[in-house]
Amino acid sequence: MTSTDSQLILGIDTSCDDTGVGIAELHPGGTVTVRANRVWSQTVHASYGGVMPELASREHVERIDAVMADALAEAGMDVHDLGAVAATSGPGLVGALLVGLMYGKGLAQGLNIPFHAAHHLEGHIFAAASEAQLVPPYLALVVSGGHTHIFDVQPGGQYVLVGATRDDAAGEAFDKVARLSGLGYPGGPAVAEAAKLGNPRAVPFKVPLAGQKGYEFSFSGLKTAALLAHKAGAKPEDLAASFQAVAVKALVQTTLRAAEDLGRETVVVSGGVAANVALRKAFTQTGLKVVFPGRGLNTDNGAMIALAGAAAIREGRAAEGLGSGAAAYAPLANVADSSL
Ligand code: KG4
Ligand code: ZN
Repeated sequence: MTSTDSQLILGIDTSCDDTGVGIAELHPGGTVTVRANRVWSQTVHASYGGVMPELASREHVERIDAVMADALAEAGMDVHDLGAVAATSGPGLVGALLVGLMYGKGLAQGLNIPFHAAHHLEGHIFAAASEAQLVPPYLALVVSGGHTHIFDVQPGGQYVLVGATRDDAAGEAFDKVARLSGLGYPGGPAVAEAAKLGNPRAVPFKVPLAGQKGYEFSFSGLKTAALLAHKAGAKPEDLAASFQAVAVKALVQTTLRAAEDLGRETVVVSGGVAANVALRKAFTQTGLKVVFPGRGLNTDNGAMIALAGAAAIREGRAAEGLGSGAAAYAPLANVADSSL
């Protein structure tokens, strides 16, 4: 059981092909801890070469009760101990999202506790709140299979989009390099593993958009360059090491420049690609205060949504109630495009 002053928040993410349920504890001093984090990763899509939305929705329906029960058991608590519920309302596959969103709303209504509709990217950003108390303003690089975005996180739940990819996400490029060199799936970890045995200077990739004034990324040219290098006979390990080196360079250089120009000392680096060890190492050498999500919180999960809910409660902006949800289909609640 918890002290009466702390609050337990359930978080649900069913935006794509992972059924995630997590529980965060918001302590009286404003710090947060993760009490449970359970993810059921769907394997049904493997033979299709991509996520099948209808199958994803059906699997969420079948699995969500069991994942929820596991999360409660991990936290050693009963559903009646919950003080609030948060669920991802977007962006994502609509049918998949609806399973977790309606489950969460129904639960909150049944228990008569507050409900917070979370944006998926807000979840990725607040995944790092398990490691350090995040005090805005700070910069956040969300780098996953679907996103490569830099946000300036400002007080009051305001997110200013500083820069993003012009084309593909970084994770997508990692996946492509793994696929074309036969390294298997998931691509990111496979490339990272192979890179340990390769020469990062073997394939002379150029950093995309070098010399730009803005804070954008581009990975589609690197995908093409990787394909050409593969066809020219580059060894998979060398290709992996060279690609990883240039991808890391692009991500770190642009984010560092944005942090310096905006005067931000703290940078959150989150999303699936933030699990990459070479990327983490390069970021820790920048001199910035870099915060990464804890173990199991980089890729999609429910605990990060619980942490986003905890932040909303702490900042007094979690009062949207059961009527909320649709607004999060917008790019990111309260996002303003930067005029930088
Ligand atoms: O955040 P996530 O689970 O899902 C999305 O919202 O996209 O991120 C998945 C992506 C995949 O592209 C995967 O290859 C990449 O994160 N990833 C990595 C590593 N682990 C996962 N990329 C590079 N290095 C890793 N160690
Ligand atoms: Zn994600």
